[in-house]
Amino acid sequence: MAIKEETKMEKIISLSKRRGFIYQGSEIYGGLAGTWDFGPYGVELRNNIKNLWWRKFVLDRDDMYGVDAAILMNQNVWKASGHVGGFSDPLVECKKCKHRFREDQLDEENRKSKKCPDCDGLLADARQFNMMFKTNVGAVEDEESISYLRPETAQGMFVNFKNIMDSFHPKLPFGLAQIGKAFRNEIAPRDFVFRSREFEQMEIEYFVDPRDSTKVNETFEALYKDQIDFLKVIGLDDSKIHKIEVPDSDRAFYSKRSVDTEFDFPFGQKELLGIAYRTDHDLKAHINSSKVDLSYFDEETKERIVPHCIEPTFGLDRLMLAVLSDAYTEDEIDGEKRVYMKFSHSIAPVKVAVFPLLKNKPLLVEKAKEIFNLIKKEFSSKGINGVVFDDNGNIGKRYRRQDEIGTPYCVTIDFETIEKDAGVTVRERDGGKQERVEIGKLVEYLSKSI
Ligand code: GAP
Repeated sequence: MAIKEETKMEKIISLSKRRGFIYQGSEIYGGLAGTWDFGPYGVELRNNIKNLWWRKFVLDRDDMYGVDAAILMNQNVWKASGHVGGFSDPLVECKKCKHRFREDQLDEENRKSKKCPDCDGLLADARQFNMMFKTNVGAVEDEESISYLRPETAQGMFVNFKNIMDSFHPKLPFGLAQIGKAFRNEIAPRDFVFRSREFEQMEIEYFVDPRDSTKVNETFEALYKDQIDFLKVIGLDDSKIHKIEVPDSDRAFYSKRSVDTEFDFPFGQKELLGIAYRTDHDLKAHINSSKVDLSYFDEETKERIVPHCIEPTFGLDRLMLAVLSDAYTEDEIDGEKRVYMKFSHSIAPVKVAVFPLLKNKPLLVEKAKEIFNLIKKEFSSKGINGVVFDDNGNIGKRYRRQDEIGTPYCVTIDFETIEKDAGVTVRERDGGKQERVEIGKLVEYLSKSI
């Protein structure tokens, strides 16, 4: 069933709240713009994406070192990296209604005529607005105590380059990987979790030998391919993914080559993730500023070099939104309209829901609990989470609820289970097909596709 793209976002936002995926931050106080809280299923969905990412890029490789650096860093990190001087967006303010906009996000007509999109008042000249959140560390608020909430996780890896070299003595090429929160005081947060002020990144700083430019290019291509492969792991629709070679004029100040991966969100084709060739920009900047040697000694040629860096970066919140919008499906089952989330089984927050047919029949409830515990225990021994017990409302309501949560399988225990030892009913999410499965074969049946 085709869904109008303009209403799809509203439906996704509403389902996310209704089913405990995403809530407005500080909602009972009227919210705080650009912040979002994640409910139980949102957390599980994010954890599943993060765990698959960590497995693919860290655990399954022998050239990657995982780190978890502090969010607050010495202010000199951000001076050296160029963020204090250059991490800004052009801000324009309306002289009449005082609303503020990012100049580069105004439409052409408003930008040229300097007319406010909200009230037609006159827009003042643009000024550069630094997007870092500033704070003070310690009891004294002075220049010395200034710190920033990190606007990217990347710098936490550059400042740990030497630590990893000293502890593990890796040979080039190798990478550092990190998952963590980043903060940007966006002028205009928008499109749900797409552009927020607090978000999560999954980043890799991959260090290569700059003397072999062919190898550098090959590594860039291989890491780009790994990024696209990861999108397949989490089940995103291939046809909605687009490769954009970023032109010189649009590249970040530190990048020699950038390729963005864009996705067809309900509000248009927008950046999902990216890869940048940061050269030796960051290591050199930190060498100059900290006066600490961050070079690499090549044992074979006896040369000392500053490695170059290729950075694949992923925004977890945008991945989550891509997954939600890709999964949102409306169809009809047995003449009834329904909404379901067609999550890939690998990321579904709930994998199996177990129901007693009726909740006021102790024998059914007892048997259902027994089967629930059996599946939970077996799944947990395989490292799989997401088995729930659900006896809320009638069976139809439970199916509708689990469909909206995106649960691949619902298992119902009825009188035949108890009286005739006739197994249980397993209902599959996408086609709504129901099958009777023997209890002894249930775990194997469910595990096959999960
Ligand atoms: N270390 C490089 C870096 O931070 P970026 O393109 O500015 O590069 C990387 O950000 C990714 O972080 C983006 O591709 C996007 O997925 C995510 N991201 C950036 N700003 C964001 C925001 N305000 N809200 C949500 N996600 C954001």
